[in-house]
Amino acid sequence: MLVVETSGPGETEALGADLAMRLRDGDIVLVRGDLGSGKTTLVRGAARALGVTDPVTSPTFSIGHRYRGASLTVSHLDLYRLAGLGDEDPGLLADYLGAGRIAFVEWPAGDSEELSDARVRITLTHQGGDRRRIEVME
Ligand SMILES: Nc1ncnc2c1ncn2[C@@H]1O[C@H](COP(=O)(O)OP(=O)(O)OP(=O)(O)O)[C@@H](O)[C@H]1O
Ligand SMILES: [Mg+2]
Repeated sequence: MLVVETSGPGETEALGADLAMRLRDGDIVLVRGDLGSGKTTLVRGAARALGVTDPVTSPTFSIGHRYRGASLTVSHLDLYRLAGLGDEDPGLLADYLGAGRIAFVEWPAGDSEELSDARVRITLTHQGGDRRRIEVME
């Protein structure tokens, strides 16, 4: 496990970029942490490093975005609004996961079987001001 403290969004993006270099086709990365802890910021840094040039923003009208990266599709899911739903459609995540894709999942819901395959788990914690503690489990 890697534990890092960052002191601003740029450092968190850079950590995301470092992590991205160790990711492989089909990987799922779960990104946990309180509101505003920097989950999307970290994913943005990772997506940039994977060759995404479109702006990386939080999904609002759907559960996720898919971006074209240099050699893979980069999926970015935010399941925050799913958290309260007991019976989610089992096929809901299928378009975002699997071969040819690397998927980052904010607010991974409960115990979805598809997400239990995640290879990397990240947890961000507020440390006051712009400081964040970031734990990476690979
Ligand atoms: N060290 C830091 N790392 C990341 N973001 C930081 C840091 N310091 C300050 N920030 C700011 O905190 C905010 C983090 O927002 P971001 O959307 O990345 O969080 P989030 O965890 O995805 O939130 P949400 O739960 O709403 O999806 C941004 O405004 C960013 O500029
Ligand atoms: Mg977010």
